[in-house]
Amino acid sequence: MILMSNTPVLQIKNLKTYFYSRDSVVKAVDGVNMEVHSGRITALIGGSGSGKSVMSRSVMGLIDKPGKIVDGEIWLNGRDLRLLSEKEMRKVRGKEIAMIFQEPAAAMNPVVKIKDHLFEAVHTHDRKARRKDKMPAFREVLLGVGLRDPDKILESYPFELSGGMCQRVMVAMGIVANAGVLIADEPTSSLDLTTQISILEELMSLRDAGIAIILITHDLGVVAQTADDMYVMKDGKIIESGTVREVFAAPKHPYTRYLMEPVHVEELR
Ligand SMILES: Nc1ncnc2c1ncn2[C@@H]1O[C@H](COP(=O)(O)OP(=O)(O)O)[C@@H](O)[C@H]1O
Ligand SMILES: [Mg+2]
Repeated sequence: MILMSNTPVLQIKNLKTYFYSRDSVVKAVDGVNMEVHSGRITALIGGSGSGKSVMSRSVMGLIDKPGKIVDGEIWLNGRDLRLLSEKEMRKVRGKEIAMIFQEPAAAMNPVVKIKDHLFEAVHTHDRKARRKDKMPAFREVLLGVGLRDPDKILESYPFELSGGMCQRVMVAMGIVANAGVLIADEPTSSLDLTTQISILEELMSLRDAGIAIILITHDLGVVAQTADDMYVMKDGKIIESGTVREVFAAPKHPYTRYLMEPVHVEELR
């Protein structure tokens, strides 16, 4: 049994990310505390607009105007990421922490071939890597996320692939990034069941290899089957957290109990 007493690889303290418009403030993330451990899958669930993606992008240092991190600390490997310059942050991204984005189309350059997207994810942490040496590994990873005909995919541009295929390529990029912390933002939404299972299996084997994974999902079944720890988010705040076992056995917050009723599972989008 893994004990929770070890130091978290990622610790988020009182994080607040707000979006400002002329006459209002959206408190997308409003005082979030979270601890993420190596070798564990930490699930983050919550309804649409509860702040899950903004929280993740905040950790990655990817919040642009009109958004701003207004308070809090983001400790990763002993440093508060909020104190790093953009140049230092670029080194951290992809090397120490990587993210599988919810909208792959927006995260992938349409005029860059898949093989170059994958290579970029490797090159960020391994400057000596050469693309042609990596091709066999890329083929393996693409097969692992359920993409048949990897040779054709490697030579394709994102716009030549379907949304579901791009989503799987995003997952492959997250895997080859080989970062100690991987944030997966709804990595299997809109994929067929077989593909979902192969992607979750990939994430679980990364977990077993010691990587810390934050899995954002709207699927409580997925949480129950794959995650070790879980956080429930509502209106920018964490309203419940614990091990998956604890929370499922005895959800404390009425909203968690509400989400667990079969008729409400649909709301977790
Ligand atoms: N670029 C933005 N500008 C203004 N508001 C935003 C922006 N991005 C997100 N928000 C707001 O922040 C809140 C949280 O959004 P998000 O993190 O995407 O939710 P989730 O991922 O949980 O569905 C929502 O109210 C959303 O409208
Ligand atoms: Mg989201």
